[in-house]
Amino acid sequence: MISRISDLKNHVNEEVTIQGWMYNKRGSGKIYFLQLRDGSGTAQGIVEASSASPKLLEAAEKLTAESSVKVTGQVSQHPRDPSAFELHITDIEIVQLCQDEYPISKKEHGIDFLLDNRHLWLRSAKEWAVQKVRNTIINATYEYLNGEGFTKIDAPILTPNACEGTTELFEIDYFDLGKAYLSQSGQLYLEAVIFSLGRVFDFGPVFRAEKSKTRRHLTEFWMMDAEAAFVEHEENMKIQEELVSFIVKSVLEKNKKELEILERNIEPLTKIEAPFIRKTHAEVVTELREMGSDIKENHDLGGDDETLLTKKYDKPIFVEKYPAEVKAFYMKRDPQDPSRALCNDLLAPEGYGEVIGGSQREDDYDELLKRIREHKLPEDAFKWYLDLRKYGSVPHSGFGFGLERLVAWICGLDHVRSTIPFPRTIYRLTP
Ligand code: 4AD
Ligand code: MG
Repeated sequence: MISRISDLKNHVNEEVTIQGWMYNKRGSGKIYFLQLRDGSGTAQGIVEASSASPKLLEAAEKLTAESSVKVTGQVSQHPRDPSAFELHITDIEIVQLCQDEYPISKKEHGIDFLLDNRHLWLRSAKEWAVQKVRNTIINATYEYLNGEGFTKIDAPILTPNACEGTTELFEIDYFDLGKAYLSQSGQLYLEAVIFSLGRVFDFGPVFRAEKSKTRRHLTEFWMMDAEAAFVEHEENMKIQEELVSFIVKSVLEKNKKELEILERNIEPLTKIEAPFIRKTHAEVVTELREMGSDIKENHDLGGDDETLLTKKYDKPIFVEKYPAEVKAFYMKRDPQDPSRALCNDLLAPEGYGEVIGGSQREDDYDELLKRIREHKLPEDAFKWYLDLRKYGSVPHSGFGFGLERLVAWICGLDHVRSTIPFPRTIYRLTP
């Protein structure tokens, strides 16, 4: 019977066949310990010369690291680790024997070497664990938002105009229609769809052409945008903190083993519970200056500012009400102080910084038109977006998270490039 390694616990004392790869081998002559992997988990296979057929022994001897195999054997619980299972091997079918030495070994490799070999590096235990956590974060997002009445919709990737800053666009030739741009965020399209479905979200690849070289930036990454009718700034933040708490809780529940492989200290993650800390941009500027930052009153937070601030607290921090001039054209102004936007960034603790950007949206036709003109955006391209303020406009808000930033934080990784299978940065397009 064929079994997945993750299912071996249900087959103790039975004979099963697992299909996968041998990633490591110990022993010689009398006894071999084969470390096996099949995507669902890892297990140790044992071949003992005293009971093995000559054919089986020969196969065990010649197996090289990363060869693909079908291994048959009797399942038993590991004598010292009850969560692990062993296979007392009775047969090995070699699917493909690696002739060349596998390039990634146990010794330390430089990051460039590993990224050049990303197609192979992804097989390593830590990379496996990161992708499992990423998968949990994706599923938890769907689960939470579906439960809160949000419908998943798909926003286009090819767009005729910018959503965030115009300097960050990837441009392509689009037949006879001129230029098209790769989407930076599905937000504007979600705003149209709330008039049909009320609460919606998208989850897909977005693109930023800014020449950022930091540990927080990719040129292609996955964003989840959520948007809801009749939700205002305060409630928008509530949805964000509940969602993030749910995601972290899900990972703690479902990925114990993965977090262990990643050597992630889970103690800080157990503290991630709503309500999060709330501070205005003005308060944060004062606080940062006291901590030695030279941030100006009307400036956005720099990466270093975010690091500094988020190392100080063990909960995520909402920074609200940024100066409107440093934020996007679509954000509604704070009626208490129109120089501020009704917006928030959510900064993750332990130095991670911004994981979410969100705001209440300008819902008044004339105000929005004024902003579009102030930002020197092409009015024509935004006609459809302005229409939304003409036909049944409502107060509404939304936010977007960067999946890779969440994965980096929750897994405790130092760079977003190791959270996505094939990272795209300004220096890297391969493999
Ligand atoms: O803050 P941003 O630019 O916000 C928007 O795009 C809004 N339209 C979202 C919305 O309101 N629906 O991007 C949202 C998040 C950031 O908080 C960050 O986590 C992530 O996307 N992000 C990046 N992640 C990796 N590489 C980059 N270059 C990123 N730029 C933003
Ligand atoms: Mg942002």
